[in-house]
Amino acid sequence: MIVNDAGAVLCVRRGASKFASTAHRWEFPGGKIEPGETPAQAAVREIREELGMDIRPLADGPTVEHAYPEFSISLHGVLCVAEEGSPEPTLREHTASDWCPPDALWRHAFAAADAPLLLWLKERFFGARLRAETFGRFPCFLESCTSTNDEALRRAEAGAPEGTMVVAERQTAGRGRLGRTWFSEPGQGLLFSWVARPNLPPETAATLPLVAGLAVAQTLRALGTEAGLKWPNDVLIGERKACGILCEAQTSARGIEGIVVGIGINVGAVPEAVAYRAVGLGGGLDRLELLARLCPVFEGFYRRWRAGGLAALRAELDALDCKCGRPIVVKPSGTPIEGIARGIRDDGALLLETASGTEAILCGEIVQWD
Ligand code: BTN
Repeated sequence: MIVNDAGAVLCVRRGASKFASTAHRWEFPGGKIEPGETPAQAAVREIREELGMDIRPLADGPTVEHAYPEFSISLHGVLCVAEEGSPEPTLREHTASDWCPPDALWRHAFAAADAPLLLWLKERFFGARLRAETFGRFPCFLESCTSTNDEALRRAEAGAPEGTMVVAERQTAGRGRLGRTWFSEPGQGLLFSWVARPNLPPETAATLPLVAGLAVAQTLRALGTEAGLKWPNDVLIGERKACGILCEAQTSARGIEGIVVGIGINVGAVPEAVAYRAVGLGGGLDRLELLARLCPVFEGFYRRWRAGGLAALRAELDALDCKCGRPIVVKPSGTPIEGIARGIRDDGALLLETASGTEAILCGEIVQWD
Protein backbone atom coordinates (compact mmCIF):
# COMPACT_ATOMS: atom_id res chain seq x y z
CA MET A 1 0.00 0.00 0.00
CA ILE A 2 1.45 3.36 -0.97
CA VAL A 3 0.85 6.56 0.88
CA ASN A 4 0.32 9.23 -1.69
CA ASP A 5 2.24 12.44 -1.65
CA ALA A 6 -0.35 14.23 0.47
CA GLY A 7 -0.05 11.46 3.10
CA ALA A 8 -2.44 13.32 5.35
CA VAL A 9 -3.96 12.08 8.54
CA LEU A 10 -7.35 12.52 10.02
CA CYS A 11 -7.67 13.66 13.55
CA VAL A 12 -10.44 15.11 15.60
CA ARG A 13 -9.77 17.84 18.06
CA ARG A 14 -11.47 17.86 21.42
CA GLY A 15 -14.38 20.27 21.21
CA ALA A 16 -17.13 21.27 23.55
CA SER A 17 -20.70 20.90 22.49
CA LYS A 18 -22.36 23.97 21.12
CA PHE A 19 -25.85 22.86 21.97
CA ALA A 20 -25.75 20.35 24.76
CA SER A 21 -24.27 19.98 28.19
CA THR A 22 -20.58 19.37 28.69
CA ALA A 23 -21.44 15.70 29.13
CA HIS A 24 -21.44 15.57 25.34
CA ARG A 25 -17.80 16.07 24.66
CA TRP A 26 -16.28 14.87 21.49
CA GLU A 27 -12.93 13.21 21.53
CA PHE A 28 -10.91 11.45 18.94
CA PRO A 29 -13.03 8.44 17.99
CA GLY A 30 -11.85 5.64 20.21
CA GLY A 31 -10.59 8.23 22.62
CA LYS A 32 -7.21 6.70 23.37
CA ILE A 33 -4.91 9.67 23.28
CA GLU A 34 -1.81 8.63 25.24
CA PRO A 35 -0.06 11.13 27.49
CA GLY A 36 2.17 13.42 25.47
CA GLU A 37 0.44 12.53 22.17
CA THR A 38 -1.36 14.98 19.94
CA PRO A 39 -4.69 13.80 18.49
CA ALA A 40 -2.99 13.49 15.11
CA GLN A 41 -0.29 11.25 16.54
CA ALA A 42 -2.94 9.15 18.29
CA ALA A 43 -4.79 8.73 15.01
CA VAL A 44 -1.64 7.66 13.20
CA ARG A 45 -0.77 5.18 15.93
CA GLU A 46 -4.23 3.65 16.08
CA ILE A 47 -4.57 3.34 12.33
CA ARG A 48 -1.16 1.73 12.10
CA GLU A 49 -1.96 -0.65 14.94
CA GLU A 50 -5.48 -1.53 13.91
CA LEU A 51 -5.36 -1.42 10.15
CA GLY A 52 -1.69 -2.04 9.53
CA MET A 53 -1.64 0.92 7.14
CA ASP A 54 1.50 2.87 6.67
CA ILE A 55 0.43 6.47 6.94
CA ARG A 56 2.04 9.67 8.06
CA PRO A 57 0.59 12.91 9.35
CA LEU A 58 0.46 15.97 7.16
CA ALA A 59 1.60 18.87 9.24
CA ASP A 60 -0.46 21.55 7.53
CA GLY A 61 -3.54 19.63 6.50
CA PRO A 62 -6.74 21.51 5.87
CA THR A 63 -8.97 22.20 8.83
CA VAL A 64 -12.62 21.61 8.21
CA GLU A 65 -15.48 22.09 10.61
CA HIS A 66 -18.78 20.37 10.87
CA ALA A 67 -21.37 20.91 13.53
CA TYR A 68 -23.51 17.97 14.60
CA PRO A 69 -26.60 18.58 16.72
CA GLU A 70 -24.74 17.41 19.78
CA PHE A 71 -21.17 18.49 19.25
CA SER A 72 -18.84 20.15 16.85
CA ILE A 73 -15.69 18.66 15.47
CA SER A 74 -12.70 19.86 13.57
CA LEU A 75 -10.71 17.76 11.20
CA HIS A 76 -7.10 18.48 10.40
CA GLY A 77 -6.47 16.82 7.13
CA VAL A 78 -7.58 13.40 6.18
CA LEU A 79 -6.02 10.10 5.40
CA CYS A 80 -4.96 9.29 1.91
CA VAL A 81 -3.94 5.78 1.15
CA ALA A 82 -4.93 5.57 -2.49
CA GLU A 83 -2.41 4.22 -4.92
CA GLU A 84 -0.51 7.00 -6.59
CA GLY A 85 -2.06 7.85 -9.92
CA SER A 86 -5.30 6.14 -8.96
CA PRO A 87 -8.24 7.33 -11.10
CA GLU A 88 -10.52 7.50 -8.06
CA PRO A 89 -10.45 10.60 -5.92
CA THR A 90 -8.80 10.18 -2.56
CA LEU A 91 -10.48 10.90 0.71
CA ARG A 92 -8.47 14.06 0.95
CA GLU A 93 -9.67 15.43 -2.36
CA HIS A 94 -13.24 15.04 -1.25
CA THR A 95 -13.02 16.41 2.21
CA ALA A 96 -10.42 19.12 1.86
CA SER A 97 -12.66 21.41 -0.13
CA ASP A 98 -16.08 20.47 1.09
CA TRP A 99 -16.50 18.70 4.39
CA CYS A 100 -19.41 16.35 4.62
CA PRO A 101 -20.57 14.14 7.47
CA PRO A 102 -18.88 10.72 7.61
CA ASP A 103 -21.92 8.99 6.21
CA ALA A 104 -21.77 11.08 3.07
CA LEU A 105 -18.26 9.86 2.35
CA TRP A 106 -19.92 6.64 1.35
CA ARG A 107 -21.71 8.25 -1.53
CA HIS A 108 -18.44 8.78 -3.35
CA ALA A 109 -16.26 6.28 -5.12
CA PHE A 110 -12.91 5.84 -3.47
CA ALA A 111 -9.82 3.92 -4.34
CA ALA A 112 -10.07 0.31 -3.19
CA ALA A 113 -7.09 0.93 -0.92
CA ASP A 114 -9.16 3.39 1.09
CA ALA A 115 -11.94 0.88 1.85
CA PRO A 116 -10.61 -0.49 5.19
CA LEU A 117 -9.99 3.03 6.33
CA LEU A 118 -13.51 4.15 5.47
CA LEU A 119 -15.00 1.21 7.34
CA TRP A 120 -12.83 2.01 10.31
CA LEU A 121 -13.82 5.66 10.28
CA LYS A 122 -17.46 4.72 10.07
CA GLU A 123 -17.14 2.44 13.08
CA ARG A 124 -15.34 5.10 15.07
CA PHE A 125 -17.72 7.90 14.20
CA PHE A 126 -20.67 5.69 14.99
CA GLY A 127 -19.18 4.51 18.28
CA ALA A 128 -18.55 8.07 19.38
CA ARG A 129 -22.18 8.99 18.82
CA LEU A 130 -23.81 5.90 20.26
CA ARG A 131 -25.63 6.33 23.56
CA ALA A 132 -26.75 2.71 24.01
CA GLU A 133 -25.15 0.21 26.35
CA THR A 134 -25.79 -2.99 24.44
CA PHE A 135 -27.34 -2.65 20.99
CA GLY A 136 -24.77 -1.28 18.57
CA ARG A 137 -21.90 -1.73 21.02
CA PHE A 138 -20.19 -4.31 18.83
CA PRO A 139 -20.64 -2.90 15.34
CA CYS A 140 -19.32 -4.41 12.18
CA PHE A 141 -19.60 -2.32 9.02
CA LEU A 142 -19.38 -4.19 5.75
CA GLU A 143 -19.17 -2.87 2.26
CA SER A 144 -21.17 -5.78 0.84
CA CYS A 145 -22.68 -9.09 1.95
CA THR A 146 -25.47 -11.42 0.90
CA SER A 147 -27.72 -10.29 3.76
CA THR A 148 -26.88 -8.68 7.10
CA ASN A 149 -29.14 -11.36 8.64
CA ASP A 150 -26.81 -14.04 7.23
CA GLU A 151 -23.81 -12.32 8.74
CA ALA A 152 -25.50 -11.73 12.09
CA LEU A 153 -26.76 -15.35 12.22
CA ARG A 154 -23.25 -16.57 11.50
CA ARG A 155 -21.90 -14.47 14.33
CA ALA A 156 -24.74 -15.51 16.64
CA GLU A 157 -23.94 -19.17 15.96
CA ALA A 158 -20.31 -18.50 16.82
CA GLY A 159 -21.47 -17.13 20.20
CA ALA A 160 -21.58 -13.36 19.48
CA PRO A 161 -23.02 -11.46 22.45
CA GLU A 162 -26.33 -9.65 22.52
CA GLY A 163 -26.01 -6.25 20.89
CA THR A 164 -23.71 -7.40 18.08
CA MET A 165 -24.65 -5.40 15.01
CA VAL A 166 -23.84 -5.90 11.34
CA VAL A 167 -24.37 -3.00 8.95
CA ALA A 168 -23.88 -3.24 5.20
CA GLU A 169 -23.68 -0.76 2.41
CA ARG A 170 -25.19 -3.24 -0.03
CA GLN A 171 -26.78 -6.70 0.09
CA THR A 172 -26.58 -9.08 -2.82
CA ALA A 173 -29.43 -11.26 -1.50
CA GLY A 174 -31.37 -9.06 0.93
CA ARG A 175 -34.54 -10.83 1.99
CA GLY A 176 -37.90 -9.89 3.36
CA ARG A 177 -40.74 -11.80 4.96
CA LEU A 178 -42.57 -14.60 3.17
CA GLY A 179 -39.63 -15.36 0.89
CA ARG A 180 -39.57 -11.93 -0.70
CA THR A 181 -36.48 -10.05 -1.85
CA TRP A 182 -35.46 -6.77 -0.21
CA PHE A 183 -34.09 -4.27 -2.71
CA SER A 184 -32.05 -1.23 -1.80
CA GLU A 185 -29.81 0.92 -3.97
CA PRO A 186 -26.25 1.17 -2.62
CA GLY A 187 -25.88 4.16 -0.33
CA GLN A 188 -29.63 4.75 -0.04
CA GLY A 189 -30.74 2.34 2.65
CA LEU A 190 -29.81 1.71 6.23
CA LEU A 191 -29.42 -2.07 6.26
CA PHE A 192 -28.45 -3.80 9.44
CA SER A 193 -29.10 -6.64 11.86
CA TRP A 194 -28.78 -6.91 15.64
CA VAL A 195 -28.21 -10.09 17.60
CA ALA A 196 -30.67 -10.35 20.51
CA ARG A 197 -30.71 -13.06 23.17
CA PRO A 198 -33.96 -12.46 25.02
CA ASN A 199 -34.33 -15.95 26.52
CA LEU A 200 -38.11 -15.83 26.45
CA PRO A 201 -40.72 -18.43 25.52
CA PRO A 202 -41.22 -18.67 21.72
CA GLU A 203 -44.68 -17.06 21.82
CA THR A 204 -43.27 -13.95 23.53
CA ALA A 205 -40.11 -13.96 21.41
CA ALA A 206 -42.37 -13.93 18.33
CA THR A 207 -43.49 -10.40 19.20
CA LEU A 208 -39.96 -8.96 18.87
CA PRO A 209 -40.58 -7.58 15.32
CA LEU A 210 -43.28 -5.35 16.82
CA VAL A 211 -40.82 -4.02 19.38
CA ALA A 212 -38.34 -3.22 16.62
CA GLY A 213 -41.11 -1.57 14.55
CA LEU A 214 -42.15 0.59 17.48
CA ALA A 215 -38.53 1.66 18.02
CA VAL A 216 -38.10 2.66 14.36
CA ALA A 217 -41.42 4.55 14.27
CA GLN A 218 -40.65 6.33 17.54
CA THR A 219 -37.14 7.30 16.39
CA LEU A 220 -38.45 8.66 13.10
CA ARG A 221 -41.14 10.64 14.92
CA ALA A 222 -38.50 12.13 17.20
CA LEU A 223 -36.79 13.32 14.02
CA GLY A 224 -39.98 14.99 12.85
CA THR A 225 -41.29 12.33 10.44
CA GLU A 226 -44.90 11.17 10.81
CA ALA A 227 -44.11 7.48 10.90
CA GLY A 228 -46.44 4.73 12.09
CA LEU A 229 -46.36 0.98 12.71
CA LYS A 230 -48.30 -1.29 10.39
CA TRP A 231 -48.81 -4.73 11.92
CA PRO A 232 -46.85 -6.91 12.03
CA ASN A 233 -43.51 -5.51 10.97
CA ASP A 234 -43.61 -2.47 8.70
CA VAL A 235 -43.11 1.20 9.35
CA LEU A 236 -45.05 3.50 7.06
CA ILE A 237 -44.79 7.15 6.22
CA GLY A 238 -48.14 8.20 4.85
CA GLU A 239 -49.36 5.08 3.10
CA ARG A 240 -45.99 3.87 1.86
CA LYS A 241 -43.42 1.60 3.42
CA ALA A 242 -40.28 3.23 4.81
CA CYS A 243 -38.94 0.26 6.75
CA GLY A 244 -39.24 -3.51 6.85
CA ILE A 245 -38.19 -5.88 9.63
CA LEU A 246 -37.23 -9.51 9.39
CA CYS A 247 -36.50 -11.46 12.58
CA GLU A 248 -34.89 -14.86 12.27
CA ALA A 249 -34.13 -17.28 15.07
CA GLN A 250 -30.81 -18.92 15.84
CA THR A 251 -31.80 -22.30 17.20
CA SER A 252 -30.15 -25.36 18.63
CA ALA A 253 -31.45 -28.61 20.13
CA ARG A 254 -32.10 -26.55 23.28
CA GLY A 255 -34.48 -24.19 21.44
CA ILE A 256 -34.11 -20.53 20.52
CA GLU A 257 -30.60 -19.35 21.38
CA GLY A 258 -30.86 -15.96 19.79
CA ILE A 259 -32.87 -13.81 17.42
CA VAL A 260 -31.46 -11.76 14.60
CA VAL A 261 -33.42 -8.55 14.10
CA GLY A 262 -32.87 -7.41 10.51
CA ILE A 263 -33.99 -3.90 9.64
CA GLY A 264 -34.03 -2.12 6.30
CA ILE A 265 -34.87 1.58 6.28
CA ASN A 266 -35.29 3.50 3.04
CA VAL A 267 -33.33 6.60 3.94
CA GLY A 268 -32.62 7.96 0.46
CA ALA A 269 -34.21 7.14 -2.86
CA VAL A 270 -36.15 3.91 -3.26
CA PRO A 271 -35.73 1.65 -6.32
CA GLU A 272 -38.07 2.76 -9.10
CA ALA A 273 -39.73 -0.65 -9.29
CA VAL A 274 -41.13 -0.28 -5.75
CA ALA A 275 -41.67 3.50 -5.62
CA TYR A 276 -45.46 3.12 -5.80
CA ARG A 277 -45.49 1.43 -2.38
CA ALA A 278 -42.15 2.39 -0.79
CA VAL A 279 -40.87 5.76 0.36
CA GLY A 280 -37.56 7.22 1.50
CA LEU A 281 -37.20 9.49 4.51
CA GLY A 282 -35.99 12.47 2.50
CA GLY A 283 -34.26 15.47 4.02
CA GLY A 284 -30.72 14.15 3.58
CA LEU A 285 -30.72 12.31 6.90
CA ASP A 286 -27.32 10.90 7.88
CA ARG A 287 -27.71 7.13 8.15
CA LEU A 288 -25.14 6.75 10.89
CA GLU A 289 -26.88 9.45 12.89
CA LEU A 290 -30.20 7.65 12.46
CA LEU A 291 -28.67 4.35 13.52
CA ALA A 292 -27.01 5.92 16.56
CA ARG A 293 -30.37 7.35 17.59
CA LEU A 294 -32.30 4.16 16.95
CA CYS A 295 -30.05 1.88 19.05
CA PRO A 296 -30.87 3.41 22.46
CA VAL A 297 -34.58 3.70 21.64
CA PHE A 298 -34.71 0.01 20.72
CA GLU A 299 -32.66 -0.87 23.78
CA GLY A 300 -35.11 0.93 26.08
CA PHE A 301 -38.12 -0.78 24.49
CA TYR A 302 -36.37 -4.14 24.46
CA ARG A 303 -35.62 -4.00 28.19
CA ARG A 304 -39.23 -3.18 29.02
CA TRP A 305 -40.48 -5.91 26.68
CA ARG A 306 -38.12 -8.47 28.18
CA ALA A 307 -39.43 -7.70 31.63
CA GLY A 308 -43.11 -7.42 30.80
CA GLY A 309 -43.78 -8.51 27.21
CA LEU A 310 -45.75 -6.34 24.79
CA ALA A 311 -48.06 -5.27 27.62
CA ALA A 312 -45.16 -3.17 28.93
CA LEU A 313 -45.25 -1.19 25.64
CA ARG A 314 -49.01 -0.68 25.58
CA ALA A 315 -48.86 3.11 25.43
CA GLU A 316 -46.45 3.06 22.46
CA LEU A 317 -48.40 0.30 20.70
CA ASP A 318 -51.59 2.33 20.87
CA ALA A 319 -49.94 5.60 19.93
CA LEU A 320 -47.89 4.34 16.98
CA ASP A 321 -50.28 1.79 15.41
CA CYS A 322 -51.28 3.74 12.30
CA LYS A 323 -54.01 1.36 11.13
CA CYS A 324 -56.06 1.20 14.33
CA GLY A 325 -59.69 2.23 13.68
CA ARG A 326 -59.31 2.03 9.91
CA PRO A 327 -60.83 -0.35 7.35
CA ILE A 328 -58.30 -2.94 6.21
CA VAL A 329 -58.00 -6.28 4.45
CA VAL A 330 -55.85 -8.88 6.15
CA LYS A 331 -54.41 -11.94 4.53
CA PRO A 332 -53.71 -14.63 7.09
CA SER A 333 -52.80 -17.95 5.42
CA GLY A 334 -56.02 -18.35 3.44
CA THR A 335 -58.78 -16.04 2.18
CA PRO A 336 -58.37 -12.31 2.82
CA ILE A 337 -60.64 -10.92 5.55
CA GLU A 338 -62.11 -7.43 5.58
CA GLY A 339 -62.75 -5.46 8.71
CA ILE A 340 -61.80 -2.55 10.91
CA ALA A 341 -58.43 -2.73 12.68
CA ARG A 342 -58.96 -2.63 16.43
CA GLY A 343 -55.40 -2.59 17.69
CA ILE A 344 -52.68 -5.05 18.59
CA ARG A 345 -53.16 -7.41 21.52
CA ASP A 346 -50.53 -8.17 24.18
CA ASP A 347 -49.74 -11.49 22.49
CA GLY A 348 -49.03 -9.69 19.20
CA ALA A 349 -52.33 -10.61 17.52
CA LEU A 350 -54.06 -8.06 15.32
CA LEU A 351 -57.66 -7.49 16.34
CA LEU A 352 -59.98 -7.26 13.37
CA GLU A 353 -63.64 -6.35 13.73
CA THR A 354 -65.53 -8.16 10.98
CA ALA A 355 -69.21 -8.49 10.14
CA SER A 356 -69.28 -11.72 12.16
CA GLY A 357 -67.41 -10.48 15.23
CA THR A 358 -63.87 -9.63 16.29
CA GLU A 359 -61.09 -11.97 15.20
CA ALA A 360 -57.57 -12.16 16.64
CA ILE A 361 -55.05 -12.79 13.85
CA LEU A 362 -51.61 -13.96 14.92
CA CYS A 363 -49.94 -14.42 11.51
CA GLY A 364 -50.44 -12.73 8.20
CA GLU A 365 -50.23 -9.27 6.78
CA ILE A 366 -52.38 -6.29 5.98
CA VAL A 367 -52.69 -6.31 2.21
CA GLN A 368 -55.08 -3.40 1.66
CA TRP A 369 -56.18 -0.39 3.56
CA ASP A 370 -58.13 2.74 2.78
C1 BTN B 1 -39.98 -7.18 4.98
O1 BTN B 1 -40.51 -6.08 4.90
O2 BTN B 1 -40.46 -8.16 4.41
C2 BTN B 1 -38.72 -7.31 5.80
C3 BTN B 1 -37.55 -6.66 5.13
C4 BTN B 1 -36.29 -6.74 5.95
C5 BTN B 1 -35.08 -6.18 5.23
C6 BTN B 1 -33.88 -6.12 6.08
S1 BTN B 1 -32.53 -5.29 5.31
C7 BTN B 1 -31.45 -5.81 6.57
C8 BTN B 1 -31.81 -7.24 6.87
N1 BTN B 1 -31.15 -8.13 5.95
C9 BTN B 1 -32.00 -8.76 5.17
O3 BTN B 1 -31.69 -9.58 4.27
N2 BTN B 1 -33.27 -8.41 5.47
C10 BTN B 1 -33.29 -7.45 6.54
